[in-house]
Amino acid sequence: MAKTWDIEKFKKTARAAAAEGIVLLKNDKDALPLKKGAGLAVFGRSQMNYYKSGTGSGGMVNVDYVVGIYEALNDSKKYKINSDVRKAYEQFVKENPFDTGVGWAAEPWFQKEMPLNDDFVKEAAKQSDVAIFIIGRTAGEDQDNKNEQGSYLLTDVEKDALSKVCKAFDKTIVLLNVGNIMDMKWVSEIGPEAVLYVWQGGQEGGNAVLDVLSGDVNPSGKLADTIALDISDYPSTANFGSDKRNFQTEDIYVGYRYFETFDKESVLYPFGFGLSYTTFDIALGEFSYDSKDGVTLEVLVTNTGDKSGKEAVQIYLEAPQGMMGKPARALCGFAKTDVLKPGQMQCLEISVPKYWMSSYDDSGVTGNKSSYVMEKGVYKVFAGSDVRSAQEAGEFELKKTEAICECEEACAPVKEFERIKPESGFAKTTEKVPVRSIDPNKKRKDRLPKALPYTGDKGYKLKDVESGKVSMEKFLAQLSDDDLMAMMRGEGMCSPKVTAGIAGAFGGLTGNLAEFGIPAGGCSDGPSGIRMDCGTHAFSLPNGTCLACTFNEELNEELFRWEALDLRKNRIDALLGPGMNIHRNPLNGRNFEYFSEDPILTGKLVAAQLRGLHKYDVTGVIKHFAGNTQEFKRHSVDNVVSERALREIYLKGFEIAVREGEARAIMSTYGPVNGVWTSGNYDLLTTILRGEWDFKGIVMTDWWAMANDEAGAPGDYKNVAAQVRAQNDLNMVNGNAEENSGGDNLPEALKDGRLTRAELVRNAANICEFLLKTPAYRHMLGEESALDKELAKAVSEDDAKLQELIKLTLNDDETEIDTSLIDTSKNATTSFVITSKRKITMDMELVLRAVNQPDVAQLPMSIFQDKALIKTVTLTGMDREWQTIRINMIPAIMSNFYLKFYFAQGGLEIKSIKIIKTEDIEDKFKRGLSEL
Ligand code: BGC
Repeated sequence: MAKTWDIEKFKKTARAAAAEGIVLLKNDKDALPLKKGAGLAVFGRSQMNYYKSGTGSGGMVNVDYVVGIYEALNDSKKYKINSDVRKAYEQFVKENPFDTGVGWAAEPWFQKEMPLNDDFVKEAAKQSDVAIFIIGRTAGEDQDNKNEQGSYLLTDVEKDALSKVCKAFDKTIVLLNVGNIMDMKWVSEIGPEAVLYVWQGGQEGGNAVLDVLSGDVNPSGKLADTIALDISDYPSTANFGSDKRNFQTEDIYVGYRYFETFDKESVLYPFGFGLSYTTFDIALGEFSYDSKDGVTLEVLVTNTGDKSGKEAVQIYLEAPQGMMGKPARALCGFAKTDVLKPGQMQCLEISVPKYWMSSYDDSGVTGNKSSYVMEKGVYKVFAGSDVRSAQEAGEFELKKTEAICECEEACAPVKEFERIKPESGFAKTTEKVPVRSIDPNKKRKDRLPKALPYTGDKGYKLKDVESGKVSMEKFLAQLSDDDLMAMMRGEGMCSPKVTAGIAGAFGGLTGNLAEFGIPAGGCSDGPSGIRMDCGTHAFSLPNGTCLACTFNEELNEELFRWEALDLRKNRIDALLGPGMNIHRNPLNGRNFEYFSEDPILTGKLVAAQLRGLHKYDVTGVIKHFAGNTQEFKRHSVDNVVSERALREIYLKGFEIAVREGEARAIMSTYGPVNGVWTSGNYDLLTTILRGEWDFKGIVMTDWWAMANDEAGAPGDYKNVAAQVRAQNDLNMVNGNAEENSGGDNLPEALKDGRLTRAELVRNAANICEFLLKTPAYRHMLGEESALDKELAKAVSEDDAKLQELIKLTLNDDETEIDTSLIDTSKNATTSFVITSKRKITMDMELVLRAVNQPDVAQLPMSIFQDKALIKTVTLTGMDREWQTIRINMIPAIMSNFYLKFYFAQGGLEIKSIKIIKTEDIEDKFKRGLSEL
């Protein structure tokens, strides 16, 4: 029987995707592709530490290997690599080792670069034909990029080193191993011959770079963001980075929508731009407009150069200014050719529905308040290979303004502010942003769901809902209020109820819920592959920005079809990703995970990724819904934004993922939009998401998120009632759902009427409907498909071992570990997953001795807590009496942690191991958290 899982094909797809995302910005003197056998001198310390992804939850995939750029070039044997230059960097890195920082989100965004001197560089230029200069940057959660050296800007040392190399070498190629765009003024100042954004390409990233440099793959990546001359040119910069409130005065004019409308001169590289080793002619074929279906057009792409390659065609709309004002260009479709041989032509057909061409009237200026509208006038459609060079492909005229879709006011701002707007001839003016006129709390009260009264256990199981024996309503009527409340609480991190090491568990987490036949679903970070903190390996993917630059839906779908199999292999139901927030500003620290400044590109590619995941019944938890535009103070900073910009820019990608990708799961953000925390935002999660878009899946919070009851009210971690009322079904994450370890306000809110049982039932139905589609449900029924069996065989012995965990819950003061469970033989590992109900500091006390060993024997035993080695205890053969050893452990803050005992030699006997509480820090910790 043909195998479904094929790691080699997964690697190939990831390599192809990483290569297609590479954007060639400059290629003078035919610097690329490299000539066969060329002598290469590789500069830049990032050759020693390829960034496969950014940091934080989106980057913590444990992998079998990572192919860096240097390794790929060297191992290919296609080039003569300058070993003197390499050795100098090896020496430098020995003296200046990689700085990982200390603790969560502490890794610096860049590593110290090696200064170069002229003689060294000149000597290298004598020995080698071409210089390759690698510049690296990382970024991640909790911190933004800064308009400073080492972040958005090159450092002086980098600039100096690069200048010296460019001066000495005839051809210098700069590779940017970065997550996100950066300042590019240096390109004209220093003048390297070629520049490529190679992004963070996952574990196959270096191979992808090799493919493009060698010409085996002709670059076809296109910028998913506008690169402006200076960070201050982005209109969002003025209102980015506050610790309290960011007024989004640029409104819908984000990225190229702004530059093409108001400030063409400030663009260095336009949105959609990217060179190839060949040339293409883009001719316009048939164009038609249908008053029902919108625009359909043909674009004929011919390879007019001498190398095979792909081209990404983009369709832009210029809608009439009308009363509302419109951007000069808005992407409304795109398509990528196959590999075209020289002279070959392909006809691409692209359709643009009217809905995507409409604008949201949040003020009523067109006479259609709260509707998507196409204003009367001429609509011009452009096609081309970037936003600036796209040519007019056709136009049509609407004689009358048309309301395309009637909605209702939702998520409107409560704070007054001004937004920009074009007036005649694309001059910039401003207007007042319409503010909220309908209270969402009133909507909720008017639209409360109904539920059957509590019936007690009637013997129905969830599978009776699937078979049609009982309705979901009747099934859920059997659940007590306590059961329902427990279902709203996800558990994590590293819940022992699901695959070891993953971020969250949800659904049937209590004995009662499990009795009703409700499975426990599991979800893991995401998005760049599976994160399992106990050390299990998975496959790491190229980052979001890289995948966006492919402009290739099919490839994204195929890549995530493989990712689906990796999830199935690890028995995980959902990946916490893709991350799909809009790149409002280049300084957002998490842009690397996200796709683009454009919502259509983002939405279409995420929809493709979801289609890939759904092929094997797993899914993605698309995040962060919505408006996470900065990392600094992400738990509390308020995004103040017009309803129009929210709908046309910040929600649009999610809408496409829901409508076209049939998204089943969404993660809300940490922070508020227009004063209301998104996890408790009724308008966002009920009115728009479920009401307008007909979303049928689950919404979960980000990990430990606040909510509030009304715009402007303070956020509170315990206010889970507000989350439930909004249809944020799952509060992530709790130590223990049944015991309400997070101390949420569900019980009191239910008692005093702030929450109804019917709302709990409604959310429970969302969760159960979701679970019915998961592999976890099928496994709970005891079903093992042929695919499950095949995938189980593909799990490596080491990884299987990491999943064999012994479960143990800590007692109040002292907990004895059953030492008979610990294998003390040579090279043996025994792992425990330990649950602590309280946050405590603790020590470990071990009593052990050597048995039957010669005096000189060295008997090491290593103890790991999570991934950290907390102690290696080494006895000698002479330690024949019981030895008592006390070790400081890492405080238990996360409810669950792992303990691993590893014996490099046999010969130790363990009498007892105790974990002893030294202090209860629950209260201290809580005070610390709310002060964050
Ligand atoms: C991140 C999420 C992530 C979650 C679980 C949070 O810090 O914002 O994107 O999925 O942690 O790891």
